[in-house]
Amino acid sequence: MTTSRKIALVTGANKGIGLEIARQLAQADVHVILGTRNPERGTAAVQALTSEGLDVSYLPLDTTDEADIAAATAAISDKHGRLDILVNNAGIADWHDGPPSTASLAAVRAELETNFVGTLAVTQAMLPLLENSDAARIVNLSSALGSLSVNGDPSSPFYAARAIGYNTSKAALNMLTIQLAAELSDTAIAVNSVSPGFVKTDLTGGNGALTPAEAASVPVKYALLGDDAVTGRFVSAQGELPW
Ligand SMILES: NC(=O)c1ccc[n+]([C@@H]2O[C@H](COP(=O)([O-])OP(=O)(O)OC[C@H]3O[C@@H](n4cnc5c(N)ncnc54)[C@H](OP(=O)(O)O)[C@@H]3O)[C@@H](O)[C@H]2O)c1
Repeated sequence: MTTSRKIALVTGANKGIGLEIARQLAQADVHVILGTRNPERGTAAVQALTSEGLDVSYLPLDTTDEADIAAATAAISDKHGRLDILVNNAGIADWHDGPPSTASLAAVRAELETNFVGTLAVTQAMLPLLENSDAARIVNLSSALGSLSVNGDPSSPFYAARAIGYNTSKAALNMLTIQLAAELSDTAIAVNSVSPGFVKTDLTGGNGALTPAEAASVPVKYALLGDDAVTGRFVSAQGELPW
C-alpha cells in the first residue's frame, strides 16, 4: 500500500497531452497510474516513463467499458486504498463530426459516449477513492469549443468551428464540472475544467500552436492545487474562460 506520496490516475495517458500530464505529475513526485485502452500502447508508455526514472504504473482502462472501469477501481482500491488526483483526459474528435445540418450521428454518439458519458462513469466509480484522500483534485480536459458563450459569439476565433458532437461533449463535460463541484462544495475535493489550448496531437491531425508538453502544464497545475484550491472553474493558460 502506497502511503504518503500522492496517487494519480490519468485516463488516455498513452500519448498526446495525457502522456505529458502523466510525465509532469510523476516529475512532481506523484505516483501516476496511466489508464489506457490499448495494452501495448499503455505498456510502451510506462516503459518510456520508467526509463526516465519516473514512478508510474499502468491499468487497462477503456473509459467507455464498464467492466474496465470496475476492474481499474478495484485495482486502485486494493493497491492504494485512495486516489488523490483524477485527470479525465481521454477524449476523441471524430472527423465525421461537423455542423448540425450534416454531422454524422454515429460520430456525435461516439464523442458524447467517450468525452462525456465515459468521463462521468469513471468519475462516479473513482469518487469513493477520491473521498479517501485528504484533498483530492479532479481535472476535466475541456476545450474553448465547449464554451456556449464562445460558440455564440461571432467575434470569437472559434465561432466557425462547428463540430456539433465534439463541442457539445465538452459543454456537457463543463456541466459535470459545475454540478460535481457544487455537490462536493462541503468537501476538500476540487473539480475544475481546463482547456489546454490548440495542441499538436493526433486529435488535431498534428496541427496546433502548442506542444503536448506545453499544454500539459495547466492541467498539471490544477491537479496539484494546494489547500486554497479553487473549484468549479473553467480555465486556460490565459485565465478564466466563459462557460
Ligand atoms: N489537442 C488539442 O488541441 C485539444 C484541445 C482541447 C482539448 N483537448 C482534449 O485533450 C484531451 C487529450 O487530447 P489529445 O489532443 O492529447 O488527443 P490524442 O493525442 O488523440 O490522445 C487522446 C488519448 O485519449 C485516449 N482515448 C480515447 N478514447 C478513449 C477511451 N474510450 N478510453 C481510454 N482512452 C481513450 C487515446 O487512446 P488511443 O491511443 O487508444 O486512441 C489517447 O491516449 C482530450 O480530451 C481532448 O478533447 C485537446
